[in-house]
Amino acid sequence: MKPRVFSAMQPTSDSLQLGNYLGALVHWVKLQDTHDAIYGVVDLHALTVAPDPAVLRARTRRTAAQFLAGGVDPTRSIVFCQSHVPEHAELAWLLSTFTGFGEAGRMTQFKDKSAKVGESGTNVGLFTYPVLMAADILLYDTNVVPVGEDQRQHLELSRDLAQRLNARFGEGTVVVPEPHIVKETAKIYDLQEPTKKMSKSAVSPKGTIEVLDDPKKVAKNIRSAVTDTGDVIAFDREAKPGVSNLLTIYSAIDGRSVDQLVAEYEGKMYGHLKSDLADVVVEFLTPFHDAAMEWIESPDRLDSVLEDGAARATAIARPTLERLYDKVGL
Ligand code: ADP
Ligand code: NA
Repeated sequence: MKPRVFSAMQPTSDSLQLGNYLGALVHWVKLQDTHDAIYGVVDLHALTVAPDPAVLRARTRRTAAQFLAGGVDPTRSIVFCQSHVPEHAELAWLLSTFTGFGEAGRMTQFKDKSAKVGESGTNVGLFTYPVLMAADILLYDTNVVPVGEDQRQHLELSRDLAQRLNARFGEGTVVVPEPHIVKETAKIYDLQEPTKKMSKSAVSPKGTIEVLDDPKKVAKNIRSAVTDTGDVIAFDREAKPGVSNLLTIYSAIDGRSVDQLVAEYEGKMYGHLKSDLADVVVEFLTPFHDAAMEWIESPDRLDSVLEDGAARATAIARPTLERLYDKVGL
């Protein structure tokens, strides 16, 4: 049996940004060859930011469509929507009774997010978000979870909870998940502020590459990316964050190493690099864009993928939850 991988994204935007694509989706697709993969659109998590209902519904479908367009194969992997499998919320409740209040309070992402919005703007769901994430993972007896740096602490909580349940109810009660760290993962930075990671919640829309955006706009954003002082194309994250970011994106898409690209662009200008990269990115995103649009414009097909995914997810999740209910005395 192949090890199981679980990963998910929140439906919090109309389009993934290039960092989600190159930093996560590309690896999800590869992991399908070696793992039994489950990929979720975690709409329950997205409720913590009070989205407009119609917008949330549309973004949930768009997010699933992008998984499929990017190469997630629903005949091999499970692609599903979190709220279609109520076991997530049920297990989250159970796990919340095993989570220390102080332990939850130490989660830095909550501290950062709530500091931004202030106490009146925050909610208990945002506070217990990592517990729901632990439920997402433990429900499927997940062996590995691909995680970016920002989710490391949350995965650590999932592991602590798994170990706690095993200590209390016996080894093997739940599987303790391991982080899956992809060494060659490209971390993509904002095009306008290249020391900050590219994010859906970026301040400057010009700094983000939305993968479903009009290719002309994508190209324009790349051509107007900030570069650094000097005129030598070299990889130096400290001194040349802008150029280094462009090289990272180029290498992630094109397959050539950063060193090869640096050699190739020796003596050329920043403008050259930006213009070539704009072409490379547009060429890369165009078929993805078309495939995603096809899914978005075929709601019945998309619904049937998600229905099938929910049924297959439930077939794993329900017995896990029953097992745990039995252990705790329900
Ligand atoms: P966002 O910051 O856009 O909201 P998420 O936090 O939802 O992104 O992350 C979804 C996935 O995409 C995670 O696996 C995360 O590690 C990856 N990811 C997000 N931004 C980047 C980035 N700039 N570079 C590389 N990977 C990223
Ligand atoms: Na984020």
